[in-house]
Amino acid sequence: MSKPIIILGIESSCDDTAAAVIKDGKLLANIVSSQAVHKAYGGVVPELASRAHQQNIVPVVDQTLKQAGIEKSELSAVAFTRGPGLMGSLLVGTSFAKAFALGLNIPLIEVNHMQGHILAHFIEDAPPGLFRGEEGQHIVPASVFPSFPFICLTVSGGHTQIVLVNDFFDMKVIGETIDDAAGEAFDKAAKIMGLPYPGGPLIDKYAKEGNPEAFTFSKPQLSGLNYSFSGLKTGFMNFIAGETAKNPDFVEQRRADICASIQHVIVDILLNKLKKAAKQYDIKQIAIAGGVSANSGLRDALHKLANQLGWTVFIPKFEYCTDNAAMIAITGYYKYLRKDFTTQGIAPLPRYVLDNNE
Ligand code: KG4
Ligand code: ZN
Repeated sequence: MSKPIIILGIESSCDDTAAAVIKDGKLLANIVSSQAVHKAYGGVVPELASRAHQQNIVPVVDQTLKQAGIEKSELSAVAFTRGPGLMGSLLVGTSFAKAFALGLNIPLIEVNHMQGHILAHFIEDAPPGLFRGEEGQHIVPASVFPSFPFICLTVSGGHTQIVLVNDFFDMKVIGETIDDAAGEAFDKAAKIMGLPYPGGPLIDKYAKEGNPEAFTFSKPQLSGLNYSFSGLKTGFMNFIAGETAKNPDFVEQRRADICASIQHVIVDILLNKLKKAAKQYDIKQIAIAGGVSANSGLRDALHKLANQLGWTVFIPKFEYCTDNAAMIAITGYYKYLRKDFTTQGIAPLPRYVLDNNE
């Protein structure tokens, strides 16, 4: 039997320090350490993020290898997030990965974080330990993976893109936001309501109890496949200010309805362009990726659309939606198969464009 390919993935682009181990495409361990330090500031503070990464990276990698039951000497390569992201945060993961690969004399693989979010759809799950004895049992059959070409709506705190995915390494951004990302729209709306950062998951939580049609907000009128969320944010801010002036307890009293309504409009904006893209490119295989793809309103609405329009939809497991290193390790695995390695001269790329994948 040929030697297994074992990839250590490292993710440190924003405020999560994460590591994962993938063996022959199957996940053995996946650990994410989220930084609570930013909660008090209503957003990620770059300097604090890089300091926390510096503290967390060694224990996170250590724990991941232990959980995977893998010795450092068994690793085939180290894959790391090169960008996009915060420079200070990226530097920690990049420097760590470079030193680790150099020390072990194994290949180094650089990964575009947005490509990682999309390729998270190709992670095969396996509980830790499963492969220590016997080889090759697949938990998720290969048939559940999307086949090419498919369209992926990638929605995170920093990005909102509609991507035409022709292959693992042939991705074309066909639409994107011209201002705020969808995750930012959620987080800013939450902040306006006095909720802590990151507010997206909280809006999702409260929305479950509310009426999505209680309040209406105007949607952007943008032609083509691009998005805009900054107008919605301003409209929402003015709405809350106006209502609070009349009733200081408005947000507290109507929290569920406000959350359900703002979530409804964001999801509607996202899916309208996605429908347009699917029609334009005549593609019925549709995936979502990135932190906002954890949103239950988006997931439910996508399922409904799939039934209406005959789409096959691919929705990642929750742990592969938000930032994680399993998605970096799986991208590293596919790059490893192509012998797509990088050198010790590599530096982070805070504005790494998806279409520019080498
Ligand atoms: O992909 P991600 O973890 O990090 C970035 O690369 O940005 O995405 C984080 C974003 C945040 O804006 C967060 O509020 C949002 O994803 N998010 C959600 C939910 N879970 C995470 N937004 C709405 N509903 C959720 N359930
Ligand atoms: Zn992300």
